[in-house]
Amino acid sequence: MTNQPDTFKKVISHAKEYGFVFQSSEIYDGLSAVYDYAQNGIELKKNIREYWWKAMVQMNDNIVGLDAAIFMHPTTWKASGHVDAFNDPLIDNKDSKKRYRADVLIEDYCAKIETKIDKEIKKAEKRFGDSFNKDEFISTNTRVISYQDKIKSVLSRMGKSLENEDLDDVKALIEELEIADPLTGSKNWTDVKQFNLMFGTKLGASAESAMDLYLRPETAQGIFVNFLNVQKTGRMKIPFGIAQTGKAFRNEIVARQFIFRMREFEQMELQFFIKPGTQVKWYEYWKEARMKWHLSLGMGSENYRFHDHDKLAHYADAASDIEFKFPFGFKELEGIHSRTDFDLNQHQTHSGKKLQYFDHEDNKSYTPYVLETSIGLDRMFLAVFSNALTEETLENNTTRTVLKLPSVLAPTKAAILPLVKKDGLPKVAKSIVKELKWDFNVVYDEKDAVGRRYRRQDALGTPFCVTVDHDTLEDDCVTIRFRDTMNQQRVKIGDLKSIIENEVSMKNWLKKM
Ligand code: GAP
Repeated sequence: MTNQPDTFKKVISHAKEYGFVFQSSEIYDGLSAVYDYAQNGIELKKNIREYWWKAMVQMNDNIVGLDAAIFMHPTTWKASGHVDAFNDPLIDNKDSKKRYRADVLIEDYCAKIETKIDKEIKKAEKRFGDSFNKDEFISTNTRVISYQDKIKSVLSRMGKSLENEDLDDVKALIEELEIADPLTGSKNWTDVKQFNLMFGTKLGASAESAMDLYLRPETAQGIFVNFLNVQKTGRMKIPFGIAQTGKAFRNEIVARQFIFRMREFEQMELQFFIKPGTQVKWYEYWKEARMKWHLSLGMGSENYRFHDHDKLAHYADAASDIEFKFPFGFKELEGIHSRTDFDLNQHQTHSGKKLQYFDHEDNKSYTPYVLETSIGLDRMFLAVFSNALTEETLENNTTRTVLKLPSVLAPTKAAILPLVKKDGLPKVAKSIVKELKWDFNVVYDEKDAVGRRYRRQDALGTPFCVTVDHDTLEDDCVTIRFRDTMNQQRVKIGDLKSIIENEVSMKNWLKKM
């Protein structure tokens, strides 16, 4: 693909054109940073959720699920620290009147330096050819080293300033780096201020009696407040986990990256309750386990990296992000946080209820520590979708747009196509659909020439096309075409199920973990 902004534009327009993601309320000109999942998007999203759920809940004896309500008692958010500390540092440009997240401006500055590093590497790759050793080049080339040092020092200073609430220094850093408004180039900035990200709403009929509530900004707190209920009713023994998927809401200020940063989004979170003192071991365990989950999807190990936090959230004693190479660079996809006993302790204090675990082995009670893994479902969708979108130049010099989704996640597993709309072929094709749909999401398509139908299914990410032709009436065989290689094979109708199953079953994919 060509340059990055172009790639990203193509991702967004492909998502719309092929029924994956639409802007919310589009007929009213849309609502910023809110999106709807369409007929194909919802299937892909559901499959990602299921792939996560199977790996986290079904495959782990000591992890169970939960579906807590979005509305929670307002004290929850006081206890969790979100009322006081769930803020973004904002800065306004006095000339353009545009508002930005100060930390994002600084991170974007560093991302530009990273692009320069990439360019140096590419240049050297060309120069040295086969003898090029990337790791050696990165660790010895003076220009690359100075770029890396610059990134490190900028991010570390920003981390410290944010941690110390030294917003004047964040502004000073922006001015020293001569960061300009990305839209207008103006460097005329206001001071940096904190802005709370939670959406408020009201519960109750009359204005006087209504209770102020928040839409949950993370699903995690629904798990913490249910910790004891689940532990007791499920007779769970530490270490054990509670997993949940569901909507979360944040009044994001920088909301310009499609479904990367939304105001309404979905999280998939695990809170894993452990014995105090074992957090380092479990932190490493979950970092590795989550990376393995990602790698099992075959989207290229070079597209992932860990980013250990300098600035820790108010609840964490260690934190790392799994970053993915999106079309706009490496960005956070998932967070792994060692949350200590912060949350359970806070809820104990604010509710007056004991949230402790009696350890029969040690014969004592304690407040468990918590290891959290938290991934945005929409962000994972974007990772999978953008990584899959490919344009190939074929031998006859035409281009083919193909969505090379991991087949386990593809919305439709097979399209069944009669070669022509007559001679009894549609009847056979429809009978194949009728049989296969017990096991897979399949479609029937008889419109247009078969070549065009193949292309359409390629663009939708369907791993298999099955064509019924006149010979089928004689030999009970069909042609199965593979999306990525475009290879075709003649197979028995009766073998279709096992061929497809072998390629798309979650079992086979998860076994790669
Ligand atoms: N319970 C911990 C927590 O919420 P977080 O790092 O704020 O931690 C976890 O969020 C994940 O949720 C992120 O790694 C990201 O994938 C996703 N996420 C956060 N804010 C988002 C947004 N505005 N839009 C889409 N996904 C978001």
